[in-house]
Amino acid sequence: MKKLVIFASGSGSNFQAIINTIEKNEIEAGIAGLITDRTGIGAIEIAHANQIETVALPPEPADEYISGLHENLTKWKPDLIVLAGYLRKIPSDIVRRYPNKIINIHPALLPDYGGRGFYGMNVHRAVIEAGEKESGCTVHFVNEEYDRGAIIRQERVPVLPEDTPETLAKRVLQAEHQVLPLVIKTLLTQ
Ligand code: GRF
Repeated sequence: MKKLVIFASGSGSNFQAIINTIEKNEIEAGIAGLITDRTGIGAIEIAHANQIETVALPPEPADEYISGLHENLTKWKPDLIVLAGYLRKIPSDIVRRYPNKIINIHPALLPDYGGRGFYGMNVHRAVIEAGEKESGCTVHFVNEEYDRGAIIRQERVPVLPEDTPETLAKRVLQAEHQVLPLVIKTLLTQ
């Protein structure tokens, strides 16, 4: 059975989408654990509701953060690490330890609207303010540069004239919930 480790910092709707896909037997995998950078988030509630082990690792002090990552990843031995709304940079030695085994989902069509500061509503606000006619989501491999790893798959959605960042975010998130499980399934069956 292939094993996933999920990283999250927020509500966890992408995490839930992965769980749903596994439960429908569309992905042959188990979720070994959830790593978060904080407590009090929806993703942790989802982990508890699904009896998935969860570990909160504050990013500071950095040496404890890094050793906590190594310790839990060594314990769980993931075949694939999925950043499902994770707001912290993955330390370089973790990236090097899991080459092409860490993926991230970003709520825009990278390489545009990515990198430092482009997360959450900031992304959708920038897309609307730029007058883009379409946006979407990107699943990419994580390398040592923020949001710059090789793109695996993108899904496009229209930007409507009456869109607010919130309405666009909702449309992009629906696309994310389709694309991320699909990419995981593809990578695990290669
Ligand atoms: C998603 O928009 C994802 O693209 C971004 O963070 C958000 C996570 O949402 N990286 P959720 O926690 O999965 O609901």
